[in-house]
Amino acid sequence: MSELKKINGGSGSYLEWRRGSGRTIEILNIHVNRPDRKKGVGKKMIKQLKSTVDGNLVFAITRMSNRIAKEFYKKIGFREIAVLGKFYGSEDAVMFGIDL
Ligand SMILES: CC(C)(COP(=O)(O)OP(=O)(O)OC[C@H]1O[C@@H](n2cnc3c(N)ncnc32)[C@H](O)[C@@H]1OP(=O)(O)O)[C@@H](O)C(=O)NCCC(=O)NCCS
Repeated sequence: MSELKKINGGSGSYLEWRRGSGRTIEILNIHVNRPDRKKGVGKKMIKQLKSTVDGNLVFAITRMSNRIAKEFYKKIGFREIAVLGKFYGSEDAVMFGIDL
């Protein structure tokens, strides 16, 4: 398992990612400090990740019920790749990806 990397978005906001096999990159978590949401902080951290891992395939998984995260990933250019049945206990997840 490769090393966990962290992008610091300031004021407790962060993005955690790691390299997978081949040219894949997995976003493990993205979190924006509540008062800072909807101000472009998430988008900025993704932009930073993109510049770090240019030329790779980036994946992210989120709960089916996480409407905001799904909107977020779509808005910043990710595509829905798969529905992962019962990924979080009884809840499905959605896998998003972007080929940089
Ligand atoms: C998902 C999350 C990271 C988005 O971060 P953010 O800094 O608020 O997002 P941005 O301001 O960069 O928004 C980028 C786009 O995402 C979408 N978006 C963000 N928040 C949204 C909301 N509340 N409702 C609808 N769309 C939203 C919009 O399309 C937005 O584009 P716009 O500003 O042109 O409208 C943030 O809401 C968060 O930390 N949520 C809790 C943790 C979480 O669910 N993480 C994802 C699963 S691991």
